[in-house]
Formats: sequence, C-alpha cells, structure tokens
Amino acid sequence: MSTDVNSEVMARARGLLEDAARVFILTGVGISAESGVPTFRGEDGLWRSYRPEELATPQAFRRDPRLVWEWYGWRREKVSKCQPNPGHRALARIALDRPARIITQNVDGLHEVAAKLEAGGADWESASPLELHGSLFRVRCTECGFHGSDRAPVDATDRESLPSCPECGALLRPDIVWFGEALEPVVLAAAFDEAREADLCLVVGTSAVVQPAASLPRITSEAGGFVIEVNPQPTPLTGLADVALQGLAGVVLPTLMGD
Ligand code: OAD
Repeated sequence: MSTDVNSEVMARARGLLEDAARVFILTGVGISAESGVPTFRGEDGLWRSYRPEELATPQAFRRDPRLVWEWYGWRREKVSKCQPNPGHRALARIALDRPARIITQNVDGLHEVAAKLEAGGADWESASPLELHGSLFRVRCTECGFHGSDRAPVDATDRESLPSCPECGALLRPDIVWFGEALEPVVLAAAFDEAREADLCLVVGTSAVVQPAASLPRITSEAGGFVIEVNPQPTPLTGLADVALQGLAGVVLPTLMGD
C-alpha cells in the first residue's frame, strides 16, 4: 500500500483512474472542508462542540424541535455562503467525462453546484450526486407525505415560527437521516449496486466510521475493484486502499486529473 503523494504514487493513482471502466466516488465532509464547511470529527469538528443526541436524532426533534431547527438553520445559513472548491470540481469532471457516480454523505449540496459549473450549461445530471444522508436544503412533513426543497432562512424564535407543511400545516423537519434512522432503501440499494459494479472506488474526505457508507469501498474491493483514498489523515479504510493519497482534496484531486 502507498501512503505518500509522491509522483510515483500519483502516477499509480492516475493509471487506475484511466484504466477504470466504471468509477464509484464516495465523499464525506472532508471534500467540503476547504470550502469552509465544518467537519464532524477531528480537532474543530462539530461533534466536539455539539452533542449529536441533542441535535441529530428523532428523539431530539420530538423533545425540542425549536433547538434542532435552530441548529439546522445555522448550518443552512453557513453552507449557503460556501462555494465548491477545486476538489468538488475535479470530481464533477470525472463524473461528467466517464461512467462514474458520486455518492455523498454530505448534506451541503456543493457537488451539485460544482456539477452545474463544470457542465457550463450542458447536461450536468451524470455528475449529480446520490445523497445518502439527505440535504440541508430539503424538508419533509412530520405528518403527511409532503417533501420538497427549501432554501429559506429558518425562523426558530419559537415553536409557532418553525417551518410548517404547505399541504397539512403540520411541522416540517429537515430531510436529513438522523442517528438511529434507516437510510432511504432505494438510495441505499443504488449505492450498493454502484459499489459492486465499479472497478475503482475513489473515497474522499470521510473518517469512514459511519455505516453503512463506510462499508461501500469494501464492497468494491471484495468484488475485485481498486480503492484510492484521498484524506490527509489515516482512516479505517487506509489499510484496504490500493493507493492512499494523503493530502487535501482540493490539492490532490486536481493533480490526479492532471491540472
Ligand atoms: P468526519 O468529520 O467524520 O470526517 C471528515 C474526514 O475528512 C476526516 O477523515 C478528515 O481527515 C478528512 N478531511 C479533513 N479535511 C480534508 C480535506 N481538505 N481533504 C480531504 N479530507 C479531509 O465526516 P464524515 O466522514 O463525512 O452524518 O462523517 C460521516 C457522517 O457522520 C456525516 O454524514 C454525518 C456525521 O455524523 C449524519 O449527520 C447522519
């Protein structure tokens, strides 16, 4: 296994990418770190200052929807000011240029923005990511089947000011998969199919500790595919990786693409 971004290691990674018939790209919040999106774990990670069980569980939402909406409103506002970085753009180019699918744990929408920028008005759908954990910019009703996009600032002054369903008036919730909740079965099945069918998995900016996302690169590997990891820190997947590019996504990915 290679663990340094010297030219030999980069050349090997480039070779794997060029030879791959189908690429599966798994991202975590590290891809967005250089855009200013806070990560969850690590020194400045959100889970250092906030407790997931108070903010990111269905129980927390039932107990105190105002507090939970306040937190998601803050994150929505913060992420709205962020732009995709050269790492997002390089991944979008991979997905636009060849058979590839981006599957992300991120809820920040930046892969989609990058896809539209790279496509420059042409069809960007092939670089549209499968969002495993939902989106900060989507909501769904706690009572009826309503769901939709929502980019508005959140007024979390009190219970009455929180976002409500345009169809039945009940409380809306962020369309995010919280701890203790199952992933959308259709989305999960599509992710497992991509992982099985790909002959290269490029895994970028995830600590690879949250399941089932963390197991997807193993599926590619067990099916005979290669794994390239891009992360400045080692993770539980580093030992599995055929090439570990230990650096920042915004630097390493454009170099991988020959920029
Ligand atoms: P983490 O915060 O757990 O991990 C971020 C990873 O990104 C770490 O391994 C960092 O070393 C790496 N990283 C930091 N900066 C980087 C950079 N510039 N380039 C490349 N890598 C960098 O975030 P996730 O793995 O995304 O779930 O977390 C997984 C899930 O846990 C999230 O989707 C979220 C969270 O709780 C839910 O909210 C359901």
